[in-house]
Amino acid sequence: MEPTSAAPGILDEVRGFLEDLRRDWPEIFRARPRLPEPPPAAPPRIGALPARPAPPPPAGTDAALFHARAEHWAPRLGVTFGRVRVKDQRSLWGSCSREGNLNFSWRLTLAPSEVLDYVVVHELAHRLEMNHSRRFWAHVEKHCPDYRAHRKWLRRNGEALYRASRAAALLLVFAFAAAAASAQGWTAVGSVTNVETLSDGVELTAGAARVRITAFAPGVMRVRLAPNGGFSKDASWAVAEEAAPPAMKIDDGVDAVKLTMGEVSVVATKSPLTIRFADASGNAVLADAPALPMAWNGASVRVWKSMPPGERYYGLGDKAGPMDRRGRAFSLWNTDAYGWQESTDPLYKSIPFFLGVRGGKAYGVFFDNAYRSSFDFGKETDGILSFGADGGDLDYYFLAGPAPKTVVSEFAALVGRAPLPPLWSLGYQQCRYSYYPEARVREVAKTFRDKKIPADAIYLDIDYQEGNRPFTVSASSFPAFGAMVRDLRAEGFHTIAITDLHIARAPGVGYAPYDSGTQLDAFVKNPDGTVYVGHVWPGDSVFPDFTLTRVRDWWGGLYKEFVGLGVAGFWNDMNEPAVFNETKTMPLDTVHRLDDGSAVDHRAVHNVFGMENARATYDGLRRLRPDERPFVLTRAAFAGAQRWAASWTGDNSATWNHMAMSTPMLLSLGLSGYGLVGDDIGGFIGAPPADLLTRWMELGAFNPIFRGHAAKGTPDREPWVDGPEHEALRRRAIERRYALLPYLYTAVEEMTRTGVPLMRPVFLDYPDSEDSYGDRDFLFGGDLFVAPAFSEMREAEDVRLPPGGWYEYGTSNRHEGGVPLSVRPALGEIPLFARAGAIIPQQPVAQDADETPNGPLELHVYPGPDCRGELYQDDGHTFAYRRGKFLRARYSCEAAADGVSVSGAVEHGGYRPWWSGAELVVYGFAAAPREVRVGGTAAAGWTFDADRGSVRVLVPRARGAWRVRILR
Ligand code: GLC
Repeated sequence: MEPTSAAPGILDEVRGFLEDLRRDWPEIFRARPRLPEPPPAAPPRIGALPARPAPPPPAGTDAALFHARAEHWAPRLGVTFGRVRVKDQRSLWGSCSREGNLNFSWRLTLAPSEVLDYVVVHELAHRLEMNHSRRFWAHVEKHCPDYRAHRKWLRRNGEALYRASRAAALLLVFAFAAAAASAQGWTAVGSVTNVETLSDGVELTAGAARVRITAFAPGVMRVRLAPNGGFSKDASWAVAEEAAPPAMKIDDGVDAVKLTMGEVSVVATKSPLTIRFADASGNAVLADAPALPMAWNGASVRVWKSMPPGERYYGLGDKAGPMDRRGRAFSLWNTDAYGWQESTDPLYKSIPFFLGVRGGKAYGVFFDNAYRSSFDFGKETDGILSFGADGGDLDYYFLAGPAPKTVVSEFAALVGRAPLPPLWSLGYQQCRYSYYPEARVREVAKTFRDKKIPADAIYLDIDYQEGNRPFTVSASSFPAFGAMVRDLRAEGFHTIAITDLHIARAPGVGYAPYDSGTQLDAFVKNPDGTVYVGHVWPGDSVFPDFTLTRVRDWWGGLYKEFVGLGVAGFWNDMNEPAVFNETKTMPLDTVHRLDDGSAVDHRAVHNVFGMENARATYDGLRRLRPDERPFVLTRAAFAGAQRWAASWTGDNSATWNHMAMSTPMLLSLGLSGYGLVGDDIGGFIGAPPADLLTRWMELGAFNPIFRGHAAKGTPDREPWVDGPEHEALRRRAIERRYALLPYLYTAVEEMTRTGVPLMRPVFLDYPDSEDSYGDRDFLFGGDLFVAPAFSEMREAEDVRLPPGGWYEYGTSNRHEGGVPLSVRPALGEIPLFARAGAIIPQQPVAQDADETPNGPLELHVYPGPDCRGELYQDDGHTFAYRRGKFLRARYSCEAAADGVSVSGAVEHGGYRPWWSGAELVVYGFAAAPREVRVGGTAAAGWTFDADRGSVRVLVPRARGAWRVRILR
């Protein structure tokens, strides 16, 4: 059993599984069906092998028994073993001498009780081939000298062989998984007995169960299961889009029903009922695993799907660890995960949405179920992904894409996109647990201004309150709260106050939120009708029943006084909901009321509780300040929470690894519809070394939300704390963010319309190069590529630029994409590249986002193909943009041998920006140009920067249409 040493873990797992099977389902091991004659030898299906094929298994041997067992179980499990492809596989492995190492898999093939061993070893060999594991191949070659030839053959034919052998292997795995599933009490949907055509799809009856497959929107299909035939009320906490089903063609055949909607089709086989989504050419994109139709077990529901080799899985919100979820399993149950680590699961948010991406094409799945759910991407059974929940409906959407960006947009349309945030919220935000008393808050704000480090927001964490009671202010620490907020505003700071969702249980002391909430009967109850009390920051606390509109309205009104005092933003924390007890939340049997007069227990709404809290806050602020864009920050979320709040990744730690982990988490959130997100820069827990904090600020400047935070009792964390050198570097990082605000705001505005996140993985824009990028580098908008330094950078690191040409930001050094570039950025530098063909709008640095920049708009032109840029601007804080008061300008350039021409035009001029002129900075000039023409006239006053290879020229009237020519 030599090669087993390559993966003892897997084989041990398999053995354990087999033993469980033996115990739970002894029949399969006892059953000795009558042995049929071995099937006649047939030529290998895949191709001629260089070595001899092994003889067919003689009757009465284990091999024959294996055939028999397959024959026996195939019809029962509803799978086809394809005459048991043992022959092909034997051919494959038989090419090596019988004593050779590989024959052991042959031996295992023939032992029916160890079929899974065989499958795993077989898979393992292939996987190792894929991974080029030297150790494995050295071993093979030692024991099996003629394997070299075989390997060459494998290389040539490997892909086809792999697919075929894998298909065979997976069938076996499915068979066992199905057997195990049924042994554990799962009931699978049976065979279709009736097909009813609906206006938007079909309803299939299968025994007592019914399944509806409907069109929801172009490219979006929906599947619902009612195990006992009665569909529950069609309601969703997440889905924001109205169904608009496009025309659909329905073919009801003998074996299957096929629904075709434009380029997408779905085939439901009738016996048993399995579902397969296919693309325009009929290729399966996402299919139920054979022999594993959707099933239920008590209140639980689950779906199993095949995982094609090489498919990657992204999404599920802020899960830690690699962005590609393949090979791992996750739980979705909003959890206060203080001090989470890479392996911690679940975390704060539940976004039951993922993308499958393979060969540049993608699809999405949204499982619309707010109960505790779980997603398994081949962890339990290689080759099978599954998702399901502890309760609620089996109700999922298939999003056809096939461009990854389309899937992301489809999902954002389905659950709702973020509204345009106030511009100031994209500036630097300074937080800590907690700035107090008042003098300290003022001191921090003043230091930013004195040191000329731009910043826009300062946070008040729970210590500004009286006894940590939400909606109170500590009179001793903040004797002049209103004046402080006003003064901060005058200095360009927005105050953001925390208002956790728990209300202190403080009867009879004049604590208004408790009194008014009690009067309104606003709090979550125990099953016996008493109000549920849990311990959180203020001590005994009660929890608003956020699933009731009247309670959300009441909650929103609690902000009145703070809004009146000028507090600009609000922070809804601890809203998983967190309770300081063993389960970290309220008991599962607490009662939550719904608007229709019914009630559900905590299981049904736990995952949406925080989202409904943020919704109540946002809606309340809209009512209190109808023309001001609210800024709400929430920790917990469900799919669609971006409609009401920005978010962050919770209580991380001050380590290099946490900084590295922040990128895949934020990228995953972006893919999951959540684009306005950040993490605690510097790490919440612990004390970041100076270099780490500097690097983290450099990186954070390219996160959608840029917010420094620190836990109570940790050392100070403001940009200046590590001395003048670090301060200068951090100032520079923050200044760069401010210089890029016009670009950033334009990309955020685009996100609010399309759902395409500002911070995005490279494959979203370059789907064909999906496998070339890890979890470190990302795109910031479509035109900037960021390759942050995650370690202390003692060694140079490779950066692979996306396809096309890329300039080192702010210079004329151009590199071609796809070729690894070795970088070793000094502290204070972050490898940043601009797309050749980008026109990036920038502005002179201001101290806050509302301050009028001192100088014209800047347009940084990096000549290249597809040369374009865009600028969106408005007043930055009201909803006037919805009434047309915004500016949208488009820019383009053309590079030729004799020079570069750049043009601009204002497409929509409903807002008058601070600038009237634009300064062009055009890169890519090795020498000073011969002439520069603005419009028809030769321009004076242009400059050439030899170091940067750039030409600077002012377009005095840039609010109309203009053209500049720079001649070499
Ligand atoms: C939670 C939050 C953290 C906050 C603290 C005190 O731990 O995640 O950001 O500072 O509570 O409110």
